[in-house]
Amino acid sequence: MNFEIKNKDVMGRIGILTTPHGKIRTPALMPVIHPGKQTIDVKKFGAEIVITNAYIMYKNKELRSKVLEEGVHKLINFTGPIVTDSGSFQLSEYGDIDVNNQEIIEFQKLIGTDIGTSLDIPTPPFVKRERAEKELEITIERAIEAFKVRGNLMLNSVVQGSTFTDLRSYCAETIGAMGFDIYPIGAVVPLMESYRYSELVDVVMASVKNLPDSKPRHLMGAGHPMVFALAVSMGCDLFDSAAYILYAQDDRLMMPTGTFKLANLVEMPCSCPVCINYTPDDLRNMNKDDRMKLIAEHNLHVSFAEIRKIKQSIVDGNLMELVEQRCRVHPYLLDALRNLKKYTLLIDEYDPSNKNSAFFYSGSESLARAEIQRHLTRISRLPQKKNLLLLPRGRKPYSKHIRNDLDKFYYKHIKGDSIDLNNIFNDLQIAVVDVPFVIIPLEIDEVYPLAQNEAPIITDEDSKKFVKEELEKYMAYFDNVIINSKILDRFDMYINETVKDLSENIIKSYNLDEYVFDPFRIDIDDREKINYIADYQFGAGAGKALFPGNVKIVKSRKTGKIRHVYEDNMLIATLRATDSVFVPDKEGAIRLHTYFDYPEKRVVVNSDADPFAREGKSIFAKFVIECDSNIRSNDEVLIVNEKDELLAFGKSILCSHEIMDFNTGQAVKTRKGGI
Ligand code: GUN
Ligand code: ZN
Repeated sequence: MNFEIKNKDVMGRIGILTTPHGKIRTPALMPVIHPGKQTIDVKKFGAEIVITNAYIMYKNKELRSKVLEEGVHKLINFTGPIVTDSGSFQLSEYGDIDVNNQEIIEFQKLIGTDIGTSLDIPTPPFVKRERAEKELEITIERAIEAFKVRGNLMLNSVVQGSTFTDLRSYCAETIGAMGFDIYPIGAVVPLMESYRYSELVDVVMASVKNLPDSKPRHLMGAGHPMVFALAVSMGCDLFDSAAYILYAQDDRLMMPTGTFKLANLVEMPCSCPVCINYTPDDLRNMNKDDRMKLIAEHNLHVSFAEIRKIKQSIVDGNLMELVEQRCRVHPYLLDALRNLKKYTLLIDEYDPSNKNSAFFYSGSESLARAEIQRHLTRISRLPQKKNLLLLPRGRKPYSKHIRNDLDKFYYKHIKGDSIDLNNIFNDLQIAVVDVPFVIIPLEIDEVYPLAQNEAPIITDEDSKKFVKEELEKYMAYFDNVIINSKILDRFDMYINETVKDLSENIIKSYNLDEYVFDPFRIDIDDREKINYIADYQFGAGAGKALFPGNVKIVKSRKTGKIRHVYEDNMLIATLRATDSVFVPDKEGAIRLHTYFDYPEKRVVVNSDADPFAREGKSIFAKFVIECDSNIRSNDEVLIVNEKDELLAFGKSILCSHEIMDFNTGQAVKTRKGGI
């Protein structure tokens, strides 16, 4: 069995999981099938994989002899992959079960399940630490035992540890190192039932951070479509639930935006076949069994629709926009979203560096997104100037739409010698101040996501505070800052004694008239621009390394944008039109290789892969022996061998953690070999 990643966004992934009964795409919802009782054919709703309970079959004499004879696939009439649970849930519900770990593993082997589960102990949230520790040791011991007797059976190993994040991490790390096939995160049902979504975030992140990236993670018992997007964004790949049927038994209809009681409905909530063909009255007037079946069908329809929507948003690169929408359907989900802020740096390591969608600001929670932190880190790599001129937002890209109503400018002396107003416009960095990226140096204003984002024009208080704080940090790097009054107005920034009006009095009294400064006609030098973009994208000094001499910059005749950079008729790099990111050509790759020290920017392949890389074939993760720990998916990377000879270059599909952990699937899509 194996797993590979096809697309990524935030910490979510679209993967292909291969099982003895075929391949399935993740994220996937596994409907719970009750052996012997199931009346709904879940395949019709889009189920590619299901989960059923081995303990129920083991306990019931009739089912047991039937399943031992014909196998679980025949028993539940499902030809795709089947996961079986072990009875742990019954253990947690009823306190005792009459089967031991080894027996239930042997039983799962005999019935031909695809993925079995050992008898973990689902320790509930908020118990005493001593209990959580004791039960966790048993869970781990049983996992080890199951591993020994598994034979050909693929195995789940469940992360436990209650709400102690260090225990979750310890468990994830311990069982994560042991080579199980799937890692469920267990005992989270009570958290979800009581709407403790914020604690759910802590439990999931503590687990996922320490689990291998190359294995699917299953959020056990998560069956409400309201939480799918959030869980996927944290790296969960599989969901299972009996919720579709349990809610139906209670006359409750699930939607990704919440739950509706049939009793209160005057209109059906969606456009699934059930909602189109029946009115709430029709359902209310039915007998209980028929009604339950129809509501369960509605619940399955909306749950699978939500999974499809999530997959699309991963491909489009707007999963976080979906998460932000979903987390506004309940205040405690909003807490979960707010709590996610703690994990921005971790998310940043997985979140792709480029996406197909614009960044949409949906409220102050968006300020915690990885893209913003990454940007604020990256601008410190840019060439350092002495003076800074800050302009207010206009249309994007900013450099093309400098406002013509910039009446007042103030200056602030930050450090260095006393102010030399004669030279204040020399050695000048010009940047726009805006929400949410705060500081946008004009040279890079077309680079993703600085032009590819939208935020409301009316500024909220959290953004004001955020911008002020980040701006203060940035301004500290300069000797003098000239700041337009519209920025001070928009962000409620106050003028203290170190700030003076530069616009009328000062310009006049210092005879600055002769220094022609026309903010409406700012031409960013192309040479500076390519330098900045390269530094922003690859790291400090990359611009000088790529473009040291006389370059020829070729622009698009249609858009006027920079397209190619040549030196002596040799193409160095192409600036991609959609996001102004450099795609190096062979010469560019050679120069980056010369400039950056091993293993920076590099994916290192073993000697088996060497000839394939040279031929320009894509790089599979299993051939990679080392890589730069800062690589994110969609980064442009260098492919070298163990002797650090440059073989090829390409676009990374995975981030560094994933490249190192995976043994299946592509790591880098090679652009060119033969270097
Ligand atoms: N189903 C829901 N939660 C759990 C859990 O923690 N362990 C197992 N085995 N099954 C579950
Ligand atoms: Zn419906």
